[in-house]
Amino acid sequence: MHVIRGQLVNFTDSTGQYWHEERGALVAGSDGRILWLGPFDLMPRSYESAAVSDYGECLILPGFIDAHVHFPQYRLLAAPGKDLLDWLRRFTFPEEARYSDPAYGAATASVFIDRLFQHGTTAASAYCSVHKVCADALFAEAERRNMSLVTGKTLMDRLAPDELCDNAESDMRETVELYKQWHGRSRLRYAVTPRFAITSSEGQLQRCGELMADLPDALLQTHLSESPAELAAVRALFPNDLDYTAIYDRFGLVTDRSLFAHGVHLSERECQRLHEAEASVIHCPTSNNFLGSGLMRFAQLREQARPVAYGIATDVGGGTSYSMLQTLGEAYKVQMLSGYRPTAIELFHLATRGNAERLKLGHEIGALERGKWADLVVLDLRATPVLADRADLSQSLEDMLFALALLGDDRAVRATYVAGNKVHERLSA
Ligand code: GUN
Ligand code: ZN
Repeated sequence: MHVIRGQLVNFTDSTGQYWHEERGALVAGSDGRILWLGPFDLMPRSYESAAVSDYGECLILPGFIDAHVHFPQYRLLAAPGKDLLDWLRRFTFPEEARYSDPAYGAATASVFIDRLFQHGTTAASAYCSVHKVCADALFAEAERRNMSLVTGKTLMDRLAPDELCDNAESDMRETVELYKQWHGRSRLRYAVTPRFAITSSEGQLQRCGELMADLPDALLQTHLSESPAELAAVRALFPNDLDYTAIYDRFGLVTDRSLFAHGVHLSERECQRLHEAEASVIHCPTSNNFLGSGLMRFAQLREQARPVAYGIATDVGGGTSYSMLQTLGEAYKVQMLSGYRPTAIELFHLATRGNAERLKLGHEIGALERGKWADLVVLDLRATPVLADRADLSQSLEDMLFALALLGDDRAVRATYVAGNKVHERLSA
């Protein structure tokens, strides 16, 4: 049992409701779940003998959830591609080829997860390389850390280097083996992971549809409508489909368990269909800006008659930061350019409860609530001189969060807790 003190903040729903307790206390039980939370002055006496970590005026939030990140790109940030397809070909595929070596995957999985924790990210939906041993390494490391992780072996069978391509038998067999070994074990979930329509043949997409039908509760993650050149290539490869979404749909891949990264260039018909299927689009702002892919518009997805659910993610290594704070700041700027101004509460909701719901984990994580996992990020409002000066001006929780999203990064992450255990603490500068 452990008492964690500070300003508790919980995001209640997507309409901007929240709960804020300035002098709060949260009790994490020995099972890693939240036992109690509320005003410190009202904490039951039975918890008074527990160890205490007092973070003063720091904000204590549900740990960030990164809804789309690539493990085998963990060191590939800022590789200067001309656009998405050039970046994939010149930098990404050669880097991912290294993950055929199980020893390399095991060594780097630990670095990758440390880096997530350092940035206050406690859960993720991650891609692995095409190699089964890469997925095994990441699942094993996430289990060792008792973290909540959705991942899966990437599926590709064309238009990629031979050593990165599945064959018509290995993709299904390895996916089923991984699902059976890891899905539902500890805090792990499996996602069927076709990379995107360009690198999967119709046969492979068909098999993905069969996997989704056969594997109970598996998620699906892929990329959709990211860059103009990608769209042109997709049109040439699938000339008979109405649009990009229709391709995935033809194979049964547009479902309420589907996570589509990017969704930058969607048509009205595609939005209608994604709404109807209750599928999710995941916004990756630092990646879209870095690769020049375009401006993803929340306003388009929020259309009242047919809202499309969306989440937010770093997309490392197309994304240029592991920090969900920086990602929220970049999303704010992208939306400002697109004619919509999100509030900070709305953005932090997306990175916590919103993403948990997108990953179908809303009953377990993403909120400070009794019975949920004690996955927490502790944010220091005065972590840098610039933040400290700005904090003197802050008049409200909205304003404090806004400053953190626009000016914060891993330096603002004072500590990170996963299942009640401290997994990162920033030593003072
Ligand atoms: N589309 C297909 N693969 C990738 C990838 O690795 N990163 C991004 N950003 N887009 C993709
Ligand atoms: Zn991606």
